[in-house]
Parts: sequence; structure tokens; C-alpha cells
Amino acid sequence: MRSLRLSLTDRCNLRCSYCMPRAHYCWLPKQDLLDFEELERLVAAFTALGVSRLRLTGGEPLLRRRLPALVARLHGAPLEDLALTTNGVLLQDQAEALIAAGVNRITVSLDTLQPARFRSLTRSQEHARVLRGIEAAASLGVSELKLNAVVVRGFNDDELEDLLAYGAEVGAEVRFIEYMDVGGATQWSRDRVVSGAEILARLETSLGPVRPMGRTRPSATALRYSVAESTFGLVRSTTAPFCADCDRSRVTADGQWLHCLYASRGLDLRRELRRGASDAELRALLSREWSRRDARGAEERAAEAEREPWRGEDELRARPHLEMHTRGG
Ligand code: GTP
Ligand code: 5AD
Ligand code: SF4
Repeated sequence: MRSLRLSLTDRCNLRCSYCMPRAHYCWLPKQDLLDFEELERLVAAFTALGVSRLRLTGGEPLLRRRLPALVARLHGAPLEDLALTTNGVLLQDQAEALIAAGVNRITVSLDTLQPARFRSLTRSQEHARVLRGIEAAASLGVSELKLNAVVVRGFNDDELEDLLAYGAEVGAEVRFIEYMDVGGATQWSRDRVVSGAEILARLETSLGPVRPMGRTRPSATALRYSVAESTFGLVRSTTAPFCADCDRSRVTADGQWLHCLYASRGLDLRRELRRGASDAELRALLSREWSRRDARGAEERAAEAEREPWRGEDELRARPHLEMHTRGG
């Protein structure tokens, strides 16, 4: 247990179709969201047990009020890495304060360079603002800046080279991500997945030899490659899962601890915090539950012969914790 993804809110200011349902959002009740003190206590318990990498996610984490103040508090924990995944809409305004508070790596979702496509994917007009956010983070010299592009057949699979060129221009590493079938990705179908193998073949045809560079660490989601003057990452969770090397768990904004991105149920840490569990009790609970973990959700999905969307719309509406935007990507 080295890596924790902490969702700070399930709300989002975009509506990416691969992540959220098109209608009938079921938001978590406000009073259930963990407050700063609760988040800080949880992070202290996790780091005491060996977690050294923390990634803040959402929904959209920059919607969380006073986020830089929270980051500064969490930065007090013994962490090697304090990273953030954001959609970039609010980044221009907040990048400086977040970096000053202790964020050392930022990943921005950027699936397309075309404003019209962005509008149809996200139902928002804020494409230019996202680009300004990326450029602001780049100009502030954050130690690592990455761009996540979920590749969806018929949507953005003709933009691989353009995205790489944009990444090179701003000094950010692009990661191409296979479309996953988690949560409200109910428009997911196998034929909309562009496999990592296909992405590599296309880039090889257009840009020349693609050379593998391995993973930055054994548990990293991305395999890295170099092509022409660029490097890029490939996250192959759908066709080549990496569960055997996984050291990640995630906590939803209302304190459900999920052992796997595909976990059906979580452990209710909010209840423990609010019933007055001591730090020692929290640590004992985390340690006991983690030692029972045998998660390999993506591998199990990949082994299914007839792979349909993971959950139906009715079930998702009844159980919002199954949604990607609730579990933090
Ligand atoms: P790094 O810390 O830079 O390695 O970032 P990351 O890849 O762990 O995080 P990011 O938020 O950028 O996620 C990139 C992609 O990996 C997203 O599409 C996620 O859905 C997917 N992903 C993240 N965590 C997991 C996980 O635990 N399991 C699987 N199978 N996929 C994941
Ligand atoms: N498949 C792959 N990646 C996804 N993300 C959200 N939904 C999906 C999906 N269905 C990505 C976002 C973000 C990261 C946290 O997860 O693009 O970059
Ligand atoms: Fe880890 Fe589950 Fe993701 Fe596999 S699917 S890499 S076990 S979180």
C-alpha cells in the first residue's frame, strides 16, 4: 500500500461522456464530504502504514473550496509525492497557489485540441481556458506536468500526433489512455476502445520508430515510449491490465475506501472517523483490511468473453459510488 488517490469532491464543472452519465446525476450529500480535519487524519493514518504517494482527484478537485489550504495541511504528512489530476478549467487561477502549497506533479485531462469536439465531449465551452491552465502550470515550472488523453474511436483517434506536438510545445508529457468501462461510461463498447497496440502502430506509421522506455516505477499505470523528438505514456488498463503490480487504493470524497478501481463496495471510513475512532484504531482497521486485499478488477474485466458496460444505468443511479467521477478516475 504505497499509493492513495483521494477524491475531494464528486462534483465536476465538465460532463465528459466517458466519465459521467449524460443525465440523472446523483451527487453525494454535502454533509457526507470529509472535512479538512478528517482528510488530514486519514492521510496521517495511511502514511503511517506506508503510503508515500498521494494523488488528489475528484470529480474536479479544484472545485473544493480553499484547496491550497488543504494541500498545505496534507503537505505536512511524510509524502514523497503529492500529485493532482484536474480537468484544467480552474487551473490558471489556482496553479501558483497549489504549487506553493506543495503540489509537485500536475496531470491535466486534455482529450482534444479542437474546441468543437471539446464542447461535444464535455458539454462546456471552456476549452481555451483549459489550454491557458496548462500553459500557466507549465510556465510556473511544476516539476512534472502531464496531459491525459482518453482515446475514443471515432472521436479523437485522429489527434494523436497533434496532441503529442502540443505536449512538446508546452513541455508536458502526453499519456494516451485506453477507454475504460468503469461507472457511468455507459456509452462504452469494445469497438470504441482504441487499444494501446493500435495507438503504437498508428504512431509508428506516422512518426517513425517507437521505442519502449518501461515504467517510471513498477506500479505506474503508464508504459513510456519515445518517438521522434517526444516521449509519451500509454495506459492500457482495458486491454493489458497491470493489477499484479498495483499498490493503489482510493478514498471517495465521502470517505468510502475502495481497494480497486472496480471495487463494488468500499469500507466506510467516514463512519469510523465520526464515531470517534482513535488514530490507532484507524491504523489497525486499514492494516487489517489491506492485508485481505486481492483486487484485480481490470484483469477480471479483461478476461470476460462478452464484455458489456460494467453496470447498467439503473444500478448506477441507485449506487453513485460506482461512478468514475465519484471514485476519482
Ligand atoms: P501517475 O502518478 O503519474 O502514474 O498518475 P496515474 O496514472 O496513477 O493517475 P491519473 O489520474 O493520471 O490516471 C491515469 C489513468 O489511469 C486514468 O484513466 C485512470 O482511470 C487510470 N487509472 C488510475 N488509477 C488506476 C487504477 O488503480 N487501476 C486502473 N486499472 N487504472 C487506473
Ligand atoms: N476511461 C479511461 N480514463 C478515464 N478517465 C475518466 N473516465 C475514464 C474512462 N472511462 C480519466 C480522466 C482523467 C483520469 C483521472 O481518468 O480522463 O484524466
Ligand atoms: Fe489495481 Fe484494481 Fe486498477 Fe487492477 S483494476 S490496477 S487491482 S485498482
